[in-house]
Amino acid sequence: MTFSLDQFRLDGKVAVVTGAGGRGNSIGRAYALGLANAGASIVVADLNGDGAKAVADEIVAAGGKAVGVQVDVADEASTLAMGAAAKEAFGGVDILINNAALMVDVSYDNCETIGLDAWNKAFAVNLNGALLCARAVIPSMRERGGGRIVNQTSGGAFPATGLYGITKLALVGLTTSLAKQFGKDGITCNAIAPGNVTSDAGKMLVPDDSPFIQFLNMTCALRARGAPDELVGTALLLCSDAGAWISGQTIHVDGGWVLRP
Ligand SMILES: NC(=O)c1ccc[n+]([C@@H]2O[C@H](COP(=O)([O-])OP(=O)(O)OC[C@H]3O[C@@H](n4cnc5c(N)ncnc54)[C@H](O)[C@@H]3O)[C@@H](O)[C@H]2O)c1
Repeated sequence: MTFSLDQFRLDGKVAVVTGAGGRGNSIGRAYALGLANAGASIVVADLNGDGAKAVADEIVAAGGKAVGVQVDVADEASTLAMGAAAKEAFGGVDILINNAALMVDVSYDNCETIGLDAWNKAFAVNLNGALLCARAVIPSMRERGGGRIVNQTSGGAFPATGLYGITKLALVGLTTSLAKQFGKDGITCNAIAPGNVTSDAGKMLVPDDSPFIQFLNMTCALRARGAPDELVGTALLLCSDAGAWISGQTIHVDGGWVLRP
């Protein structure tokens, strides 16, 4: 088949984007708006139900199709309800972006002193949450002849230097496992590893004038910070027919921060 730009279109597809309704300027919101622009119907899912509805309303006001759903990705019953809500609204699910995570609210204590409750909570959301959301939608994807799963990891996992990075590195393991286990069902699974993004959460965690960002601006191949929208093209590739032969990969979108062969 000759390549066509239409292979990036998502018309008729249904995408669940988790963590898309929290803080105003978020990566999840950028993914939800971007996939809607490409033609997908969007299930905006977040612990913050009002925020999810607000982003869904924004998509509908712009002429797209979307619903907002309150979900706790760490709770199996809640993720199953999210899958059911997607089915009720749009008939099923073709795309899942596992973007919900604890980042600002994760413990940055070291491995000697960190409380096990904080440790388990971070894993419950950042790793188990992705597993539970995948399990909630894989049957529907299989029924529809295939699907796309994108896990949002982080440059902070390469290497992992604390709890947050450890959960995100574990998510890379889930990515390759899902890719291998469900490839024959036509389901791809890949990860995006963003660098330092200027979402509200990212700027709260690491302000622009912090020594870390100043150091990165000197050492990064391009520049230390990117906007949420600068991740959307990669998500679109991984979620569309254009990326049909890509699975089990982690793509770094980070201005050349983590340089991997
Ligand atoms: N901002 C960055 O610099 C950066 C860099 C690398 C990776 N990331 C990753 O990108 C993703 C989005 O980051 P962001 O900067 O937009 O942060 P954000 O805090 O705005 O987004 C996280 C979202 O997850 C939601 N959430 C948290 N716990 C949840 C739960 N139990 N169930 C459902 N939703 C839950 C929050 O309500 C929030 O909307 C996260 O996975 C983050 O780890 C961010």
